Amino acid sequence: MNNLIKDIDIISAEEAQACNFKTTVDESTGKNRKLYIESYGCAMNFSDSEIVASIMKENGFDTTSDFHQADVIFLNTCSIREKAEQTVRKRLTVFNKAKKKKPEMTIGVLGCMAERLKEKLLEEEKVVDIVVGPDAYRDLPNLINIAEDGQKAVNTFLSREETYADIAPVRLNSNGVSAFISIMRGCDNMCSFCVVPFTRGRERSRDPHSIVAEAHDLFNKGYKEVTLLGQNVDSYKWSAEENNKARLNKKEEEISEVVTFANLLEMVAQVNPMLRVRFSTSHPKDITDDVLYTIKAYNNICKYIHLPVQSGNSRILEMMNRTYDREWYLERVAKIREILGEECGISSDMITGFCSETEEEHLDTLSLMDLVKYDFSYMFYYSERPGTLAAKKYEDDIPLEIKKRRLAEVITKQSQLSHERNKLDLGKEQVILLEGTSKKSQNELKGRNSANKMVIVPNGNYQKGDYLKVRITDCTTATLFGEVLEINPASI
Ligand code: SAH
Ligand code: SF4
Ligand code: F3S
Repeated sequence: MNNLIKDIDIISAEEAQACNFKTTVDESTGKNRKLYIESYGCAMNFSDSEIVASIMKENGFDTTSDFHQADVIFLNTCSIREKAEQTVRKRLTVFNKAKKKKPEMTIGVLGCMAERLKEKLLEEEKVVDIVVGPDAYRDLPNLINIAEDGQKAVNTFLSREETYADIAPVRLNSNGVSAFISIMRGCDNMCSFCVVPFTRGRERSRDPHSIVAEAHDLFNKGYKEVTLLGQNVDSYKWSAEENNKARLNKKEEEISEVVTFANLLEMVAQVNPMLRVRFSTSHPKDITDDVLYTIKAYNNICKYIHLPVQSGNSRILEMMNRTYDREWYLERVAKIREILGEECGISSDMITGFCSETEEEHLDTLSLMDLVKYDFSYMFYYSERPGTLAAKKYEDDIPLEIKKRRLAEVITKQSQLSHERNKLDLGKEQVILLEGTSKKSQNELKGRNSANKMVIVPNGNYQKGDYLKVRITDCTTATLFGEVLEINPASI
């Protein structure tokens, strides 16, 4: 076991995927310059890269998947754990070599690491020409001009209003079936371990009408699934009154409009009954019964909730400033089961070895996992981030080996639970949305069920974007296998 976890920071198939960088596809619309963009971190970052590509396209750039061909290279970065930043620094050394051969190339660091380190990044990494925080992407064309004039260009201004609502994202790496829609930015929670409030700024919600319009547009282009993204989607709140621009353009009754997350979910679900709606991330302190009843009311809202717990121990949760305790969390899970039933998928994030965590407190995390029976989890050991509340207030006193050993125990527990949960699906009929060919074999296709589990089926006369009714015949810890019963059933 110990060998297995020698160097792991994060484990789970999904997280490995989430942490892997994504590069751009080749796009040739006749523009005369080429952009290469690589994204790290969470879905919000991947979604932001699509905004960036759109801004760049307007300014004469097509995307390329080969950085040697690029005039501009962007790295959209993550600061969530130390390792995420190390990965970026390694990539910068690779791009440094490319720039030596092609000195006119411009290299920009975007996203959370840019925001966290600001000008310091220019001093530390000689190869970087541009540093841009997540709220300053509209300034990119200007920053590129500055960089091309031989000056260092930095904009890490954090906004209270920017939501990029009017920018139509260029879908990068898209399978043409599933797309992200960013519904809010920033985070107003102050979880003591977390760097996000510092790198992404204050929470703000995007105009719901622009969200619905984007969902419509995606459906008209053939997309079948949208995922609404925010660090804490349950605190989504938009009111026309607070939005001065809307006030000028809207009638009196529209000005009093207030849209909550439950309202927004409903509005997006009503775009089309054949458009699946997902969302992430839900915060245990904010998820309301209203949201749960809305999920229940619409067939096309997927029965899956990512509800990160972080720790199963109330003292640690308090130190983490999560503002709920173990009992509150378990009550929310009970409510999910009561309203949405056993079949609703629930996943979590867990941090092991947070400051002063005792062995018993760690066991509380394991016992909570047993009680909830998560379908899967993203699991990490604690990585202290400079400037966070925890870094200021608490000592990072759990030795690395202990953090890793506890992480291994959490991972082992999750594997057992995932398998247990998957076995419950055996023999069941479910509808999957086909995403493409399985990674392992051309003779197999893959699609997700409502609970967000990957289901593998034999290849047949189907296309990605088809809904398939399947019967689950087999499973492993990570995957379900099924046989196809019906193509494009009336109800999804
Ligand atoms: N907004 C989401 C989480 C975003 S960050 C939420 O509140 O749940 C994704 C996950 O990274 C977190 O849930 C947490 O488990 C993990 N994480 C954040 N900061 C971390 C740190 N300093 N060390 C280890 N893991 C961390
Ligand atoms: Fe970080 Fe907490 Fe905000 Fe999530 S809710 S992004 S963990 S501060
Ligand atoms: Fe990373 Fe920033 Fe997302 S720190 S997890 S890319 S919000």
